[in-house]
Amino acid sequence: MKVTIVGAGNVGATAADVIASKAIASNIVLLDIKEGFAEGKALDLMQTSSTKGFDSQIIGTTGDYSLTKDSDVVVITSGIPRKPGMTREELIGINANIVKDVTSNILKYSSNPIIVMVSNPMDTMTYLALKSTGLDSKRVIGMGGALDSSRFKTYISLSSKKLQKDIDAMVIGGHGDTTMIPLHRFAKCNNEPLSKISSPEEIENIVKSTMVGGATLTKLLGTSAWYAPGSSIAYLVDCILNDKRKTIPCSILLNGEYNQNDLCIGVPCIIGKNGVEEIIELDLNNDEMNKFNQSADAVRSMNSTLSDHT
Ligand code: LAC
Repeated sequence: MKVTIVGAGNVGATAADVIASKAIASNIVLLDIKEGFAEGKALDLMQTSSTKGFDSQIIGTTGDYSLTKDSDVVVITSGIPRKPGMTREELIGINANIVKDVTSNILKYSSNPIIVMVSNPMDTMTYLALKSTGLDSKRVIGMGGALDSSRFKTYISLSSKKLQKDIDAMVIGGHGDTTMIPLHRFAKCNNEPLSKISSPEEIENIVKSTMVGGATLTKLLGTSAWYAPGSSIAYLVDCILNDKRKTIPCSILLNGEYNQNDLCIGVPCIIGKNGVEEIIELDLNNDEMNKFNQSADAVRSMNSTLSDHT
């Protein structure tokens, strides 16, 4: 199985590292526009093969898309990351043109890949990739919900002292500080509802911390995070390549689900070899539905500015 990762920066290289280390794909191509950068990252990663004990081949290229030929999955991380104080939405102008260029080059060598979108603003970039490639909508997947859910689980664990592996929790809606919806009513630990193990104040703090989870890291690190984003990418790619059929919140085109149309936004999806195998419609209460509608409005208005930028 072959995975191409476009953008060999911190997020893309970490994804390659986890994908190789866990033997998720046998062939990994890292592509970047910065001369020699992807080649360097690939060589450095290949030099971990004997000590980590994996067999995957990782190659790097400066912009030679012919090496991406016949990729099963293409992960797009390219674009500028946010700096402290910036929102993901402020990146739209630069990143939209990069994503358009990348997707058109990818399609020259892979006719029907599954695209995993990571570039921000993620929901809008997923929509753009879908429109510009014309791929089946179940094959263009935004990764934000997987990452936001892993942050939600971390904050639940830090607050409740429960192990993350016992926590089941998801974040739906847009991948933005004000648009994501950590679904605390559905969160469980060992099948016990979160409300049984955490106070309302604790839950409120968990939700707030989750929503600014990316911004907190951007402030601490001076640029956006990479371990959790890279690992979330690998988790999704593993579900696709190994047909794991796990339920993961992803940004996907809605066609009437959650009363939305022509919009990519985070909802729980069953992920398998065809990309999104099924969209799960949760029984949201009024408050959750209102939040979802507001989130959808915000993403839709961001999408409407795409034509000004591309
Ligand atoms: C983050 C970026 C990857 O949330 O969107 O860290």
